[in-house]
Amino acid sequence: MNRIKTCVTSAMMLGAMLLTVQASAADGVKVDHLGVNNTLVRITGDGKYFMLPVQESNDDARIDVLVDGKKDRTINVRLAKSKVDYFVPFDLTPYKDRDVLLNIVTVQNRSNIREAKADACWKNLALADTFDTTNRDRFRPVYHHSPLYGWMNDPNGMFYKDGVWHLYYQWNPYGSKWQNMTWGHSSSKDLVNWEHHPAAIEPNGLGTVFSGSSVVDTDNTAGFGKDAIVSLYTSADVSQIQSLAHSEDDGLTFEIYPGNPVITQESEARDPNMFWDEANNRWVLSLAHPLEHEMLFFTSPDLKEWTLQSAFGKGIGAQDGVWECPDMFKLKVDGTGEEKWVLVCNINPGGPFGGSATQYFVGDFDGTTFKADTDANGNIPTKWMDFGKDHYATVSWSNAPDNRRTLIGWMSNWQYAAEVPTMQYRSANTLPREAGLFRGADGQLYLSSTPSPELIALRDKEITKVRNKTIGRKASEFLLPTSNDGVCEILLDLDCGKADSVEMKIANNAGEFVNMTYNSKNHTISFDRRNSGIVDFSQDFPAVTVAPSFENSNKVSLRIFIDKSSMEVFGNNGKFAMTNLVFPTKPYSTLSISADGGKAKVENLKIYSIKKLYNITGQPWIPHNQSLPTANRFCSR
Ligand code: FRU
Repeated sequence: MNRIKTCVTSAMMLGAMLLTVQASAADGVKVDHLGVNNTLVRITGDGKYFMLPVQESNDDARIDVLVDGKKDRTINVRLAKSKVDYFVPFDLTPYKDRDVLLNIVTVQNRSNIREAKADACWKNLALADTFDTTNRDRFRPVYHHSPLYGWMNDPNGMFYKDGVWHLYYQWNPYGSKWQNMTWGHSSSKDLVNWEHHPAAIEPNGLGTVFSGSSVVDTDNTAGFGKDAIVSLYTSADVSQIQSLAHSEDDGLTFEIYPGNPVITQESEARDPNMFWDEANNRWVLSLAHPLEHEMLFFTSPDLKEWTLQSAFGKGIGAQDGVWECPDMFKLKVDGTGEEKWVLVCNINPGGPFGGSATQYFVGDFDGTTFKADTDANGNIPTKWMDFGKDHYATVSWSNAPDNRRTLIGWMSNWQYAAEVPTMQYRSANTLPREAGLFRGADGQLYLSSTPSPELIALRDKEITKVRNKTIGRKASEFLLPTSNDGVCEILLDLDCGKADSVEMKIANNAGEFVNMTYNSKNHTISFDRRNSGIVDFSQDFPAVTVAPSFENSNKVSLRIFIDKSSMEVFGNNGKFAMTNLVFPTKPYSTLSISADGGKAKVENLKIYSIKKLYNITGQPWIPHNQSLPTANRFCSR
């Protein structure tokens, strides 16, 4: 056997034109072309990873992995045709000393095999013992959760146990566009520093692994043992069915239930979300019925046998898109003992600013049926959890401590998620948020979202502190931290006084900026990212989003988090939140505030730089323009 050891470095991950790996495809890899679109690749050498060269603009190739002649799995990879953008690792360790043959079907339009042979992927296939996941992406956030590499969408399956917050997510380990849905897994003790774990649930014969939820089965209702983690997710193939898996090692590895599926429907249904109904001593599950624009409710004594009880949603609320990723929980109304239920229904498209968004309903649940509150006119109002464009698939942790309802969302939008200008990874999650309920001036109950208290620990130096400053037409300028790519938290209270509006402009020295304007007449705050940096990768990206301040006052208090490619604005103690992506070519460096139509006052302005964190690669965070260490935890696990 020809022993070839190649270390695929992060320089290759970034991929210049037509990269050639030291080992040629002939070394440890045997390639047989069978026709214009079919190639067999046999692995004859040794290595921990089989490195697959990806070109993002190419179509997916279907790769059947045959182990000792039997099909083990199928993955879809955008194998490179004319250039290699980056490599993805196919882990060979489970197949040590076995015969591995890849049967690859491409879908290129070509007339002869000579063209097929010229594809860049064949000469760049390589075996490697390490895969460097050190961050090389300039837009990767510092203090938001993002995957080590590859595509991520919905956070899901989250639970808290023994001091650890477990976060699973829709992950493609074989590319930075949506495919091969797998539950990726990260965990955190403080909701700020995330550790990455191997994939938790991988596709199997029933399909790929779509979103779902997990519970800690404290009373062993399912029979897997006290405190076993039980997860339900959607197995997605031609149809969508609901599958169960359980974990006896606190969510690190899962065993798939042999009796799957546990729920079937005659039409598309997905994203099962479970909770324990104390009043009725049984489990409740909400399931998206996307094309019917409704949520189904099931109950179960043991997490395995589920009975359909009711449906909610037809003709109610925003109906322009599919309903996905439900979540349901009970909350106390602020300042009262009153308890109400909240049903979260993510919808796509049909959000208030186009594309994906999170709507919710407040109401009552009697153990079988959810009934939404109506407004003064007897209508069920549409309510939004976040007024930005990049807040989707938001769901909460089960079993969170201290009665907390902690949620996290996917910080992107299906309109352009696959086109955003990142490559090593694609998409991060929002900051974790605590949900509450408050009564608005219109008498309605609304959901508040405040940054989780753990985030205070992010604050480093207070680089600006202004107690009270009068603001006029000429902008007052404040500096943002520059030493760490501008990542920061800004706090300020605005008193608009006689001014009609106050503009807060966050800008860099490349002429790029975000304009936030508080309008004191109609009590709204707008976020204009049309000139925020790189915006031209999608016509849906340049946008202005608007949030109501939920207070009939000419004052507003703001907490703004900037993390390289995102801005999250929380206002009036979480009464509104607004999450938007931005891709400035240089870090934003100034905050300029000006008032229109009269004088305004800035009170308690504080700008904090952010502590150096252990970033997602396990390396101390290093700005992107410095040289980076090559060791990584993915290799050493
Ligand atoms: C929402 C969603 C879910 C589905 C998952 C697939 O973004 O469409 O409904 O389970 O993504 O990745």
